[in-house]
Amino acid sequence: MRAMSYALLAPNPHNRQPWEAELVGDDGLLIYRDKSRNLPFTDPLSRQLTIGMGCFLELMEMAANQEGNSIETELFPQGVDGPVASCRFAKGNGKPNPLFVHVMERRSHKDKFNDRRVTVESAAPLTSHAQLYLDGEDRDTIRRIAHEAWWSEVRTPGAWKESIDLLRVGKSEINANPDGIDAGGPLLDTLALFGLVDRKELLDINNPNSRGPIEDTAKAILSAPAYTLTLTPGNSRIEQIIAGRKWLRLNLTATGAGLSLRPVSQALQEYKEVKVHFDEIHRRFAPNGETIQILGLLGFGERLTRSPRWPIESRIRHA
Ligand SMILES: Cc1cc2nc3c(=O)[nH]c(=O)nc-3n(C[C@H](O)[C@H](O)[C@H](O)COP(=O)(O)O)c2cc1C
Repeated sequence: MRAMSYALLAPNPHNRQPWEAELVGDDGLLIYRDKSRNLPFTDPLSRQLTIGMGCFLELMEMAANQEGNSIETELFPQGVDGPVASCRFAKGNGKPNPLFVHVMERRSHKDKFNDRRVTVESAAPLTSHAQLYLDGEDRDTIRRIAHEAWWSEVRTPGAWKESIDLLRVGKSEINANPDGIDAGGPLLDTLALFGLVDRKELLDINNPNSRGPIEDTAKAILSAPAYTLTLTPGNSRIEQIIAGRKWLRLNLTATGAGLSLRPVSQALQEYKEVKVHFDEIHRRFAPNGETIQILGLLGFGERLTRSPRWPIESRIRHA
């Protein structure tokens, strides 16, 4: 349970926290992906949600290792439609991972980056975890594609509605459903309290209350001084889990190096309105048929507050 309480802090798309665990005997867990938390429009193949499961498994293993325990994991023990993993804990054999000290500081950086460049030296610890683009034409191309894809997503009503449906505005909505896209802070708390946030209005991307955050994300994408790509040779469920494990290590390594990181996924998604961006980024950066699983914005920024999480008891499945 202690290992799992850390795993809950894993990054995951739209903060859906799709994990569920069933306790098996004294030393086992079956880990499921809760399909009621799917993102049917923007993640039609549940590729990103599966990546999030990989982040969860990696973090759980690190937390167990920290206490000297180990986990033996079998992925998809009943095939890809069944549980994601069967995990057996064992005492001993666990070696603490130096990245674990950064777990509580790790964030997905949702804000603008400041204008400090990412030098080769400052990015050096990250090179074994992802492909890095710190300057030059390739970096500029990724920036342009990520920015264009963001606007394509915003202009796609079904995709935009999926985000608005998951918006939690103000403290009481966030506490009632501590997942999705949390928009808190004193101003929003007050507006929400007086019923002044109208979801129908927010569906209109020209409404000032949605236009502001949309433009902030566009600016954040353009402000990133560097970008990362995480690729897998194919696109099997197991490779998606591996990509999640890698992303978690990259995110923790970046945290340890004082860098901020944020996935922006629009160009990698599988719906028709973003296909032109998907095709362009894959043609250019995955020429041998690889799948680009995560595109990251990398730079320096102010550390943000933590995003909310469901309590552990709510994520236990009772057989
Ligand atoms: C596969 C994947 C895709 C994601 N895509 C996006 C994205 O497109 N835009 C974004 O701002 N954050 C994205 N995120 C980050 C999540 O929103 C973030 O992990 C979640 O809200 C929890 O916040 P935290 O990482 O700070 O704990 C993604 C995360 C994962 C694992």
